[in-house]
Amino acid sequence: MTRIAVVEGDGIGHEVIPVAQEALAVLHPDYEYFPVGVGYGRWEQTGCPCADRDIAALRTADAILFGAVTTPPMKDYQSVVLRIRKALDLYANLRPVKGDGFDIMIVRENSEGLYSGIEETSADRATTLRVVTRKGTERIARVAIQLAQQRQGTLTIGHKANVLKSDVFFRDICVAAAKKAGVSYNDKFIDALGLDILLHPKAYDVIVTTNIFGDIISDVASYLVGGLGLVPSANIGDRYALFEPVHGSAPDIAGKNIANPIAALRSAAMLLAYLGDNEGSVRLNSAITTVLSSGMRTRDIGGSAGTREFGDAILRVLGKQG
Ligand code: NAD
Ligand code: IPM
Ligand code: MN
Repeated sequence: MTRIAVVEGDGIGHEVIPVAQEALAVLHPDYEYFPVGVGYGRWEQTGCPCADRDIAALRTADAILFGAVTTPPMKDYQSVVLRIRKALDLYANLRPVKGDGFDIMIVRENSEGLYSGIEETSADRATTLRVVTRKGTERIARVAIQLAQQRQGTLTIGHKANVLKSDVFFRDICVAAAKKAGVSYNDKFIDALGLDILLHPKAYDVIVTTNIFGDIISDVASYLVGGLGLVPSANIGDRYALFEPVHGSAPDIAGKNIANPIAALRSAAMLLAYLGDNEGSVRLNSAITTVLSSGMRTRDIGGSAGTREFGDAILRVLGKQG
C-alpha cells in the first residue's frame, strides 16, 4: 500500500496541511496516511524537535507531505527541514512558478553550497563555508537538463561567477552538461536574474542555481503569482521525496484561519504526479482553478475566505468530479 507521511510542522502548517491531506484522501482513500509530529512545537514540549526514529519513520513512506517548521534564531538549534533534506538526501528542490503566459521551474541545489553546515563562530568572526562539489553540481544539472528536455525549453544558469569562484565552478559544470545534452542554455548573474524574472517572466523556463540563491529567487518569483501562499515545491532525491509549500510557518498569521492553502494543495498535486498519478494531480490543480474562478480567495490575494472555507470548497469540487 502507498504510504504518505504527513508532517504538519508548526504555525500555519497545522492549518494548510489538513486541507491538503483531506484533498489527497478524497482522491486516494486507498493510501495510508500517518502523522509525524516534528518541529519547534515538539521541541517546546520535549526538548527534541526531531528524533532519529522520526527520520526512520519518514524513510518508510513512499512520499512525505510537509507543512513548514519554525526555526527559532537560537544558537545550536538545527532546522528540522534541513535535517530531513540532508538525512534523506533530497538534493533537488523544484519550485514551479506558473502564471498567465509564463511557466518557470526553479531548480534549486538542495544539499550543499552555503547550507553545507560547515560553520564557525568566535567572539570576533563568524564563517560559513560555501562548498560546491562536482558530484552535487552534476546531479542538479542532470535534473534541470532533464526537465528542460521534457519541457522542450531553455535552461538558465543563475550564479554569481563574477565574484565567487565556487560559482565559476558551478556555472562551468552546468554549461558543459547542457552542451553535452544538446539543451539550449544561457546564464545570468543572480542579482540581475532576480529582477529580470519579475520584468520578463515569459523569457524563463528552467532555472538552475545554487542553494541559497534558489531559496531567495523562489520567494522573489512568488510575487509573479500573488505571493508565498501559492507556490509549491518538491524536494527530490534518488530514494525519497518530500512535498512542501515554499512558504514557512508564518507565525504572524498562524492560528487565525487566514492562511492560503493553495501552496500546500499544489504541493500535494506534485506529490501525486511523483507517485505516477498524473490524472489525480491534474484534478487537484483544476479544482484549485475552479474555486478561484468562482471568485473565492483568501485574504493574501484579495479575498475574505478562510483557510477552512477555501479547503471545503476544494473538497466539494473534488467530490463532484469523482
Ligand atoms: P514565511 O514564509 O513563514 O512568511 C513570510 C510572509 O508571508 C508572512 O507575512 C506570512 O504571513 C506570509 N505567508 C506565508 N505563507 C502564507 C500563506 N500560506 N498564506 C498567506 N500568507 C502567507 O517566512 P518567515 O516569516 O520569514 O519565516 C517564519 C518561520 O518559518 C521561520 O521560523 C522560518 O525559519 C520558517 N520557514 C520554514 C520553512 C520550511 O519549513 N520549509 C520555509 C520558510 C521559512
Ligand atoms: C525554504 C526555507 C528553508 C531554507 C529554511 C526554513 C531552512 O526558507 O524551504 O525555502 O532556507 O531552505
Ligand atoms: Mn525559503
